[in-house]
Amino acid sequence: MKNNCTLDPIELRQTALNWLTARDASRKANGVLLLQKTFIADGLSLDIDQSIINREPIPGRPDKPELVSPLSVQKRSMRTVEGRAALIHALAHIEFNAINLALDAIWRFAQMPEQYYTDWLKVAAEEAYHFSLLNQHLQSMGYQYGDFLGHNSLWEMVERTQDDVLARMALVPRTMEARGLDASPALRNKLAQAGDMAAAEILDIILRDEIGHVAIGNHWYNWLCVQRDLAPIETFERLCQQYQAPKLRPPFNIEARRLAGFSEDELALL
Ligand SMILES: [Fe+2]
Repeated sequence: MKNNCTLDPIELRQTALNWLTARDASRKANGVLLLQKTFIADGLSLDIDQSIINREPIPGRPDKPELVSPLSVQKRSMRTVEGRAALIHALAHIEFNAINLALDAIWRFAQMPEQYYTDWLKVAAEEAYHFSLLNQHLQSMGYQYGDFLGHNSLWEMVERTQDDVLARMALVPRTMEARGLDASPALRNKLAQAGDMAAAEILDIILRDEIGHVAIGNHWYNWLCVQRDLAPIETFERLCQQYQAPKLRPPFNIEARRLAGFSEDELALL
């Protein structure tokens, strides 16, 4: 029984917070992969009732990359190694923040079913794997994480929705991460056309896994709507306005969105 083993000092939600505050990116990614293995092997308890207090700066992150506004992140040519490395770096930065957002979903929100925490731990571990793949590829090109600028729009939406798990599920996985599904095919083509097939293969792995992450967001969003007796589509529109979510713009990856569990009514609204 994983619930409420208060005698066990190693508890999943507290440990997720510890990794969220960790600053070294590769250490964090490796730690999160080990965390999931340990949880699956029954080596961690889960206390869904505890309200955890955090006093550390989050997310823990290295001094570099320097964070700037999305408009200041230059677009670069795919014809140069530096240009392709900048794109891989931007993706690695998104995956680094995605590890952080999955860990945040675990420690911050109490009183969810056990499956919610297991789902978000799976997301955290897959994001850690994505970060590692991209960072290794970046290193093979002669660069490393921190060598280019980064922007923080994904984490800003995580911060804006810290008061409500419903808003978090609506606007982070179902909005920000779903935009990643839309962006993926064009990015993959760009890299493949530039001859970087290794990067294109990494993007295939990421797209496959991200469909699952958006599906997890959809599952818990709809579960919360049932719990609170809310209509999913109207509630989503209200939350988008209330939290100033970015407007969705085409092209949409309808097939990936369908696989990720958006309803036909929701797809029709796009
Ligand atoms: Fe990812």
